[in-house]
Amino acid sequence: MSAAPGNLAICLLASEVVPLSKTGGLGDVAHALAKYLHADGHDVRLFTPCYASIDRAALAARPVAALQQVPLELGKHAFVFSVLEATLPGAGGAPVFLIDCPALYARASLYTSDTDEHLRFIALTRAVLASCARLEWAPQILHCNDWHTAFAPLLLRTEYGREAPFAAARTVLTIHNIGYQGIFPAAEIADLGLSPGDTPLLHQDDLRAGRINALRHGILYADAITTVSPTHAREICTAQYGMGLEDSLRARAAALTGILNGVDYDEWDPRRDRFLPVHYDPEHLAGKAALKRQFLARVGLTAAPEVPLAGIVSRLAAQKGIELMFETLPKVLSARPLALAALGSGEARYQQFFTKLARSFPGRVAFQSGHDEELSHWIEAASDLYLMPSRYEPCGLNQMYSLRYGTVPVVRRTGGLADSVEHYDAASGTGTGVVFNDFDAPALEWALDTALDLYAQPAHWSRLMRNGMRQDFSWQRAAAEYVGVYRRLIAG
Ligand code: ADP
Ligand code: GLC
Repeated sequence: MSAAPGNLAICLLASEVVPLSKTGGLGDVAHALAKYLHADGHDVRLFTPCYASIDRAALAARPVAALQQVPLELGKHAFVFSVLEATLPGAGGAPVFLIDCPALYARASLYTSDTDEHLRFIALTRAVLASCARLEWAPQILHCNDWHTAFAPLLLRTEYGREAPFAAARTVLTIHNIGYQGIFPAAEIADLGLSPGDTPLLHQDDLRAGRINALRHGILYADAITTVSPTHAREICTAQYGMGLEDSLRARAAALTGILNGVDYDEWDPRRDRFLPVHYDPEHLAGKAALKRQFLARVGLTAAPEVPLAGIVSRLAAQKGIELMFETLPKVLSARPLALAALGSGEARYQQFFTKLARSFPGRVAFQSGHDEELSHWIEAASDLYLMPSRYEPCGLNQMYSLRYGTVPVVRRTGGLADSVEHYDAASGTGTGVVFNDFDAPALEWALDTALDLYAQPAHWSRLMRNGMRQDFSWQRAAAEYVGVYRRLIAG
């Protein structure tokens, strides 16, 4: 089996994929990449864990006959996995292969702090390679994502490089989040299942320091490394953003590029958003105002519809810069008319902050904790501005969703935020949002004040909204850039 001439055989490995599993943007991106590569005619096969939360009956997932009860031994651990095949919902017929291994994936959440977390994803990576080999499917590209599948390039250089289907395969590692590296104790080295002759390929300084870093091995051995924006590709080569991997990244600088994520406008467009009862576009903004009124009532906000509404939809993690809001939001909410709707799940300290803020500003601040897909679309549509003051942001999707929804993003100039939002210049009327530089509370306060001042000047605000709504971050461009990377590897 191989793809038609000109089309590529691409094996995508991802630890989450929308709509089957999602904690953040990786799920969206894995879905979109599979969808757009498939639409482009490539033989793309996406492999992901069959988490307990996935409804296989609803998916009509079928067992792959050649891949049932496959044994997998990793050091002292023995597993048995099976593979199910389905069509990824909403992805135009792109196939998804689910690695079913309840001992590893039937847990309360997708990711855990269990001591075998590394093993769960080493097993995933090996199960994918073993599946391709059994199916005698020869992917030309093996595209792994984040630390979870970052051992694939090393495995291709060692035992799987000796297996026929992989003889010509090239590897790509995409770093979505360098803050998570998959570090585990060197004492667990046997869990990798490497033969003793191959262990010198492991990063020796890390081993001496008593640890193994999954992501670092992807960086060392992938044929190409990408991250999800050009600015972040430069940032991660520095000590400020490299999270300890900057030396390894600098050594591979020639192989590193940044490809800005796209937006799946089938899912995120106010002209046709399936979660919204009213649709709108830049010429018909009354729909947005109507949605705002409905939304305020729905979440119990009593602020008048003219009061600017700020939205937040976020993992509540240190990366997202929530602590800048600790000081800024109570101050600005006390000083000016402003309402806030926040949705997020994550660290307790951030949840407590928003819960307390909602209590201090009743009728003006609404907070819902947890994951809620529908509410996330409502917040994007109903809000006037969107807050994203990230400490680091490899790409970020919500600021690009916000632009399309006429919801002006207020962002820090970092990573993909810097690459997708242009600071508004009142003199020329150009720009799409409010962008601040320093990671501190006064800078965020300045940005919020600037946004609220612009909101008070309808001509500027309307210009800003329309500038943003005209932006096009469609996936066609991003998918084409990935195909460019794949083709260069194959040619080279
Ligand atoms: P990250 O991957 O770092 O979390 P992104 O901006 O790339 O950041 O992607 C976040 C994605 O997850 C967006 O699609 C956003 O709407 C979604 N999301 C984040 N938190 C929630 C939540 N609590 N409920 C629903 N969707 C959420
Ligand atoms: C992440 C990053 C985010 C990016 C997403 C998808 O986890 O934090 O910036 O948009 O991956 O690439």
